[in-house]
Amino acid sequence: MSLPPAPFPAARARRLRRTDWMRDLTRETVLSTEDLIWPLFVRDGEGIEEPVASMPGVMRRSVDKVVEAANEAANLGIPVIALFPYTDPANKTPDAAEATNPDNLVNRATRAIKAAVPDIGILLDVALDPYNSDGHDGIVRDGVVLNDETLMVLEQQALVQAEAGADILGPSDMMDGRIGVIRRALESNDFADVAIMSYSAKFASAFYGPFRDAVGAAGALKGDKKTYQIDAANGDEALRMVARDLDEGADMVMVKPGMPYLDICRRVKDSFHVPTFAYQVSGEYAMIEAAAQNGWIDREKVMTEALLSFKRAGCDGILTYHAFEVAQRLQRGMDFL
Ligand code: PBG
Repeated sequence: MSLPPAPFPAARARRLRRTDWMRDLTRETVLSTEDLIWPLFVRDGEGIEEPVASMPGVMRRSVDKVVEAANEAANLGIPVIALFPYTDPANKTPDAAEATNPDNLVNRATRAIKAAVPDIGILLDVALDPYNSDGHDGIVRDGVVLNDETLMVLEQQALVQAEAGADILGPSDMMDGRIGVIRRALESNDFADVAIMSYSAKFASAFYGPFRDAVGAAGALKGDKKTYQIDAANGDEALRMVARDLDEGADMVMVKPGMPYLDICRRVKDSFHVPTFAYQVSGEYAMIEAAAQNGWIDREKVMTEALLSFKRAGCDGILTYHAFEVAQRLQRGMDFL
């Protein structure tokens, strides 16, 4: 702050709040379609759009339907979609072998979208939880999530995803050293242009509950993820993780969950000045939808106010399940505030 505001009545804050046009003129942050990344859940089959019970309005789509959704998103100007596979329990094993299958669901979906909708970016999670019969992001032995063994699998997973056409890889597993391993693998396999958006500040959070339903990992998960995800009480540690991931070759970083961690978004942006994203996660989405269904909040207004908070906190973009609907409303020239 350079100068304190002039004393009343020289300064009257309400002068600038008087009319719509004055508020428009002096607004500090804007939300636009270019800020949005839309996460989509993919499942096997054809012609299927299956609702996720804990995320009203969110579907698991078969590949053909994901291609349709990607096309509609591209037409609205959404720059990137993030794909998450709902893996058949029969394909989940302790070694998470399906993660490195070049023809697994998410890789098939990526190829299909790249062929039909070449102009939309595709972000893929690098982590083993959709494929691991233990539900963990890493390989588990004797109840311990193994770091270095997991890195070798993540490296192969990253390579098959890059080969399938992923533009951005999002390591979300929180193993130590993964960004360096993945960056080196990409560099030495002709994928130098594949970007890494690291889930650097990823907290051990109960807000992921509905997502684990959506990808079918909820029942499988044994224990919790506290030995690899960040303790919810730690802000400095999150900054250290961001510094480390940038040093190892991340191009962009993410804070996750979103709204309960806006302080982290602001600190990351102010400390590193790099492209910073927030993931408004499944539990945040579910809370808004549930309260709206009860008639307790105004759904549209809360949805956009929540997204604006990320912009105000310094984020360059937001992963949000509301992306499609918000983009539709923006296209209609809808005024949010
Ligand atoms: C898995 C992953 C999770 C999410 C994205 N990737 C869940 C977890 O770590 O348990 C959560 C997304 C959401 O809740 O919307 N590595």
